[in-house]
Amino acid sequence: MGNYTFTMIKPTAVEHGNVGQILMMVNKDGGFRIAALKMKRMSKTEAREFYAVHKDRPFYDELVDFMTSGPVVAAVLQKENAVIDYRKFIGATNPDEAEEGSIRKTFGVSIQANCVHGSDSDENAIRESKFFFSTSEIFNSEGGLIDM
Ligand code: RTP
Ligand code: MG
Repeated sequence: MGNYTFTMIKPTAVEHGNVGQILMMVNKDGGFRIAALKMKRMSKTEAREFYAVHKDRPFYDELVDFMTSGPVVAAVLQKENAVIDYRKFIGATNPDEAEEGSIRKTFGVSIQANCVHGSDSDENAIRESKFFFSTSEIFNSEGGLIDM
């Protein structure tokens, strides 16, 4: 059970001005500490690589187009049991099916534009964090660097 997960606030939520509120929910309501944070617009090549696990899914091309349609806000989050807790906290992939009060229910607008990404395993949390952040950009609670 790892203590880190990776999240992105997706382009629609950034465009709608929901970054501050989402980070506040993650921080205050969810109890996740922000260990790394940045805004970035992915290239198609980067998005294809990030979502390579989905390359055979019917929604892959659409997902890559969507995730490169504007900047995302990426973060590494720290909490005990982070991966599982964060997925519970954000709610189901489809905002219509997400629990009342969850981030996806509150800010998601469709199954694609479901406002946030959350890693699905410790292994992917590390892979995705390293995809976005260098070793000098991920910090522990004392302000020291974390070697993931
Ligand atoms: P995520 O990776 O973003 O945290 O979401 P997830 O695990 O709940 O869902 P996943 O199956 O990994 O799908 C990744 C993202 O692809 C988009 N999607 N579109 N059109 C569709 O049927 C469909 N299904 C999934 C969503 O943006 C989803 O978050
Ligand atoms: Mg996923």
